[in-house]
Amino acid sequence: MKEQRQLIMLPGPTNVPNRTIRAMMKPMINHRGPEFQALYESIMENLKYVFQTRNEVFVLTSSGTGSIECAVGNVVNPGDKVVVPVFGFFSQRLKETVIRRGARVIEIPVEWGHSPTAEQIEQVLARESNVKAVAIVHNETSTGVTVRDLPKIGKITKENNVPLIVDAISILGGDKLPVDDWNIDICIAGSQKCLACPPGVVVVSVSDKIWEVIEKNDTRPYYFDLVRARESSAEKATPFTPALPIFYALDEGLKIIREEGLENRFERHATCARAFYSGFEALSLTSYPTRHVRSNTVVAINVPSEVNCDEVRKIMRERYKVIIGSGLGKLEKRTLRVGCMGIISAAEVTATINAFENTLADLNFPVNFGAGIQAARKTFHS
Ligand SMILES: Cc1ncc(COP(=O)(O)O)c(C=O)c1O
Repeated sequence: MKEQRQLIMLPGPTNVPNRTIRAMMKPMINHRGPEFQALYESIMENLKYVFQTRNEVFVLTSSGTGSIECAVGNVVNPGDKVVVPVFGFFSQRLKETVIRRGARVIEIPVEWGHSPTAEQIEQVLARESNVKAVAIVHNETSTGVTVRDLPKIGKITKENNVPLIVDAISILGGDKLPVDDWNIDICIAGSQKCLACPPGVVVVSVSDKIWEVIEKNDTRPYYFDLVRARESSAEKATPFTPALPIFYALDEGLKIIREEGLENRFERHATCARAFYSGFEALSLTSYPTRHVRSNTVVAINVPSEVNCDEVRKIMRERYKVIIGSGLGKLEKRTLRVGCMGIISAAEVTATINAFENTLADLNFPVNFGAGIQAARKTFHS
């Protein structure tokens, strides 16, 4: 394969710092030996910092979907009732995971591009009895929507004594998410998004109070059994063979986050997202989500019907070496998605907008050439 430098502006996987890549080039070690224990300890400490939690955290060898199966499988039993707001492709998948578990979904349908609200959750919990859990996607990667009501939702679920499961796969490490303060019982995220690591592991935080529910569940999954993970964790180990190179990478990635500091990191993501939105707006392209719920980590934009999304992505990739994401599900031909994650800075934002402007011009789309870059620049210099 020809090695080629490309800018990966997907909503995950994303660009990985060289330092993190280099960390993977270490020899394999015994995953039940002292070197792994030291690695495990270091990961746990920094992971708690990222989740802003005092509770237990875990790293599982899996893609993001496995962590959803883990969260649902440990908390929910067949026949249980689970509230799931559905407002995009990934929340639909979350709903399907709950259904596969044999549970009943109380769906809160929300128009794509909008966010579920605390009031909607409150109303459903007031109406329905014996709800086993509320499961929600915090950052809907398909629509670029962040649930800004999540802290209020956490208060409501706590008051109602209903566990809260949060899929934060595409946001943890890129925007505010203090899991203890927001009363989140299980929070999951992927390595390949805002943590700026390669794909291959997921991170999970588990609140103290949900252990009672998990321990009582006698149909927990085998591979993703959190009780077993906790037992191994006491020995600074994982129940099954960990993806060692990705653990090395995660350790380095978390150290980088700690060196930068969470607040600085969130501010950097927010500034870059603002620059993206204003850059695209200056090119007359609107954001798909409504303004007050648009994400700082995934930028989804509407594409005019005369522009072919596949062609845009192909030209950006082949001529300008910038890879952006397509729309998902019903938005496939109507939107484009750009990851604003991990190492994101003015350099990647302006390179992406520059490639985008050039591509539109190459396609003879009447574009106010240079307007996008200028608008983005202004954000960085304001
Ligand atoms: C919000 C959300 N949930 C779940 C997933 C699925 O993760 P994976 O493809 O790593 O299994 C993704 C992936 O993009 C996501 O963004």
